[in-house]
Amino acid sequence: MTEPVAFPQNRTCPYRPAPGYQALAERRPLSRITLYDGREAWAVTGYALTRRLLADPRISSDHSDPSWPVANAAAAAARNFGADQKKVIGRLTALVGVDDPEHRARRAVAEAGFTPGLIDALRPKLQAVVDRQVAEMVAHGAPADLVTAFASPAALFSLYEALGIPREDQEYFKQQTGQLFGPAAVTAYDELVAYLTKLAGQHPTDSLLDAYLAVVGDRGTAEVLQLVLIMLVSGHHTTSSSIAIGASALLQHPERLAELRADPSLLPAAVDELSRLVAVTDGIQRVAAADIEVDGTTIAEGDGVFFVLSLINRDEKHYRQPEVLDWHRPDPGDHLGYGAGPHECVGMDLARAIMEIAFGTLLERLPGLRLADPAGEIPVQPGESFTGLVELPVTW
Ligand code: HEM
Repeated sequence: MTEPVAFPQNRTCPYRPAPGYQALAERRPLSRITLYDGREAWAVTGYALTRRLLADPRISSDHSDPSWPVANAAAAAARNFGADQKKVIGRLTALVGVDDPEHRARRAVAEAGFTPGLIDALRPKLQAVVDRQVAEMVAHGAPADLVTAFASPAALFSLYEALGIPREDQEYFKQQTGQLFGPAAVTAYDELVAYLTKLAGQHPTDSLLDAYLAVVGDRGTAEVLQLVLIMLVSGHHTTSSSIAIGASALLQHPERLAELRADPSLLPAAVDELSRLVAVTDGIQRVAAADIEVDGTTIAEGDGVFFVLSLINRDEKHYRQPEVLDWHRPDPGDHLGYGAGPHECVGMDLARAIMEIAFGTLLERLPGLRLADPAGEIPVQPGESFTGLVELPVTW
């Protein structure tokens, strides 16, 4: 039996797997890992096996399962919050953290909100948000931290536009949502619900809020409001980090950057190829609800399972030259950066639109955009399986 590998480990290059995952890559598609508290779990690292297991009903998403694996001490502490605070977290994870039949019913509403024309209708508003953030960053002057000056606010304010939060209320909304995972969670949640209930009757716009109200109809706004908040907490850091880390990858590939500037029609494929390499959600979590046989190995009931997307998206059985940033691959959208199976990211087309506009605008407006310290290390937030940057200093 081979020695389990510690998980999660920090990346040294923001868009490459942690160097310590090399042993996991060599043992694809399945191997043992040790979590921060000494508990062992499984790492799934193969592309085909990931598609198979994420669609298997014996692989549970039930966050309330006592055997649910946790990646670090902060996540463990959240499981010991008081009852009221736990209730708020339960509501905010009531899609990603539940199994069928509860999941299927709520997911149907979540999907129906993304009507076919919604993202096209949103594009001018998303462009206006991104234009504003670039202008603010430029007015502030170089060098700037691309995370706080651009990626994070561009993602957040784009989400507010998509959700249907009017500009004049966005600061208030930001303050309240900032409290949702802290000690004032219950008050913040109640205030947000009261605010959204008032808003629901007032502002018919092209937005998720209105689309959800149209789908849910008389069943009441509580469900709609919960979904709006779920989209916000699921969509912000994922999109923000994908923009920031994607930009770091682009800025370290000047020849690819030049190609993209010369031909912006490549942007949609480039966004997907960057998402494949970047794989910010680098440890989708599950627990086995029954014994599962995988090529002679048993994942036992109650075992924790982590899907290591940075390795899955580089599986040589699926990708030729997986380390190469190449948006001319036959199917750039087939990566698993958005997961797979019933919980596959419901907001992925919105995320794609935001990223396309963000990268397209940065390249067009800032032809001299480059890393402020090309030789320096770009630090990632330590101790997390979700990858975020501490900062990304740039100049132009
Ligand atoms: C580049 C940005 C994004 C990335 C990389 C990303 C990644 C993911 C991944 C990997 C999952 C699967 C989680 C699991 O199976 O446990 C997921 C689920 C989800 N994502 Fe995203 N996401 C992004 C943006 C967004 C946006 C913009 C929204 C909403 C507007 C969103 C809403 C959700 C929701 C609600 C789920 C749970 C779906 C379910 O359980 O049925 N995401 N995302």
